[in-house]
Amino acid sequence: MNQPVMGGVAALNVPAYIKQQSLINWVADIAALAKPDRIHWCDGSQAEYDRLCAEMVAAGTMKKLNADKRPNSYLACSDPSDVARVEDRTFICSATREEAGPTNNWTDPTEMPGTLNGLFDGSMVGRTMYVVPFSMGPLGSPIAHIGVELSDSPYVAVNMRIMTRMGRAVYDVLGADGDFVPCVHSVGAPLKAGQKDVAWPCNPNKYIVHFPETREIWSYGSGYGGNALLGKKCFALRIASNMGRQAAQAGGGNQSGWLAEHMLILGVESPEGRKHYIAAAFPSACGKTNFAMLIPPATFEGWKVTTIGDDIAWIKPGADGRLYAINPEAGYFGVAPGTNEKTNYNCMASMRENTIFTNVALTDDGDVWWEGLSKQAPAHLIDWQGRDWTPASGTKAAHPNARFTVAATQNPVIDAAWDDPAGVPISAFIFGGRRSTTVPLATEARNWTEGVYMAATMGSETTAAAVGQMGVVRRDPFAMLPFVGYNMSDYFQHWLNLGRKLGASNPAALPKIFCVNWFRTDEHGHFAWPGFGDNMRVLKWMIERIEGTAGGIENIFGTTPRYGDLQWDGLPFTPEEFEGITSIDKDAWRAELTLHDELFAKLAHHLPAELTAVKAALEQRLAR
Ligand code: GTP
Ligand code: SPV
Ligand code: MN
Repeated sequence: MNQPVMGGVAALNVPAYIKQQSLINWVADIAALAKPDRIHWCDGSQAEYDRLCAEMVAAGTMKKLNADKRPNSYLACSDPSDVARVEDRTFICSATREEAGPTNNWTDPTEMPGTLNGLFDGSMVGRTMYVVPFSMGPLGSPIAHIGVELSDSPYVAVNMRIMTRMGRAVYDVLGADGDFVPCVHSVGAPLKAGQKDVAWPCNPNKYIVHFPETREIWSYGSGYGGNALLGKKCFALRIASNMGRQAAQAGGGNQSGWLAEHMLILGVESPEGRKHYIAAAFPSACGKTNFAMLIPPATFEGWKVTTIGDDIAWIKPGADGRLYAINPEAGYFGVAPGTNEKTNYNCMASMRENTIFTNVALTDDGDVWWEGLSKQAPAHLIDWQGRDWTPASGTKAAHPNARFTVAATQNPVIDAAWDDPAGVPISAFIFGGRRSTTVPLATEARNWTEGVYMAATMGSETTAAAVGQMGVVRRDPFAMLPFVGYNMSDYFQHWLNLGRKLGASNPAALPKIFCVNWFRTDEHGHFAWPGFGDNMRVLKWMIERIEGTAGGIENIFGTTPRYGDLQWDGLPFTPEEFEGITSIDKDAWRAELTLHDELFAKLAHHLPAELTAVKAALEQRLAR
């Protein structure tokens, strides 16, 4: 196997266990186009993972970390030009521009294939093409979907093994004629005969392309994160959001149609043993991983939080009229900076071994470090760009979007049902942006429509998770701005329709909707809310609201907790400080509503009238 054939076409060497001819033909077609030297069909075994990692260490792509400090773990450092998602190079090629909508880059689906063929022609010369079969969701589950990624990046192959159910068993589910989403990925850096490779090959010209009608994904030029691990944002959000809406349009009663969301899912159990599952959407690098693994303050004796997922949720109505959620992923690709034993102990425990770190710094004893891991930085490091670093360097040792890749099963608080193909019933949705001003700590929507309005108009300060300016407030509806694979207004309508259908069949089963903001700052620019584990105080209030036992006060925007509605034991936090993170500045909100206007003007095509009505009601209350 893996012998190149003279004449430039790699031998296919299809393993006997692959029974689907159309898949084999597709692999042959892509190989004929991209012209890799070799083809490797990934089986997902540990031996294969170890071999690929060893090869990347030999090639200089990864370093093996000190086995005593960080067993079985690696550090990869990317090209400085390839460090995050590229939203302006992401395309939705639906049949018409209107279907992609004003928040997506659109290119004609009859035009884009010509561009892609030009880019991919010979793009894998000198490299191995990995055939990576994966399942999003438990293998064989009725809600899971299969993809196959063809990639010339071994880094992608090993990360996909952690992030998805990847390997040979996928072909058993696929059989002779099962459906799969074809995903084609190239770093866009062919090697001429004798040309020496670089540690992180990539191309300045990047294309992340989705075809919602044919459910195809093509990615060119980047080896990083969501640009390259195509099961994640490309499939599980952009293509899957299309699938969920198309299922609703196809009709078929109350259970048709589903949601693909940028949400963590957590379980929270009270001391009395009552358990709720909550799904929460925060934009990229705004605290999902942290919230999903939260450790309640010591004074919250008997409260337990467990993780179903930290980034993506697929959510479907069940026969009982409730919404059931699964985590389609099998691992976490989480933000390293800011993570430490105090802010997220469970996360630190998850990455004690078997972890791939990307763009963090290397310590002199062969372990990793990033800003926020310890108060005091080590005296010497090798930074993410391979340069000597000391605290006097004045630069960041780790890239702000540095990440770790770990299997979900390494999380000490993984929920017992995390792998359950039936999913878990959702009691509430939480939406939260990163806002240093204006938005209060917590608000409960009075009804589904008002909740959809809050989520639709959510603003958040941009982070290092995407290339572009950091810290500017932008509208990020549902934390899905970069991830809805169709017209945003139609997406709002899909949410409203779902609520109407579920509410009609079983109003009590409709999840409550809350909005939060952990990120308000004080006059010194410091976070005014302790956040992290103390977010449990807000979560407990929400659980009690769901159960009908907690108080709150209705204001312009919804219901918010009063100081006395939260449990404060163990935290010296005064009513004045509470006022600082919950007060509503009417002028700031008038300015905020003009930003809602701008958003709605942009989304005017198909914008649901219900949302304009909610806005009018808010404006009236604000004017009082
Ligand atoms: P993606 O993986 O990009 O979708 O992001 P995420 O939402 O999972 O982000 P994550 O939980 O990894 O958090 C990103 C950053 O936010 C880290 O630096 C955290 O330390 C910080 N963070 C998380 N929770 C809180 C909080 O409650 N308060 C404050 N101030 N920061 C937080
Ligand atoms: C995000 O940016 O929301 C992520 C990281 O979860 S990536 O997979 O790179 O998109
Ligand atoms: Mn994310």
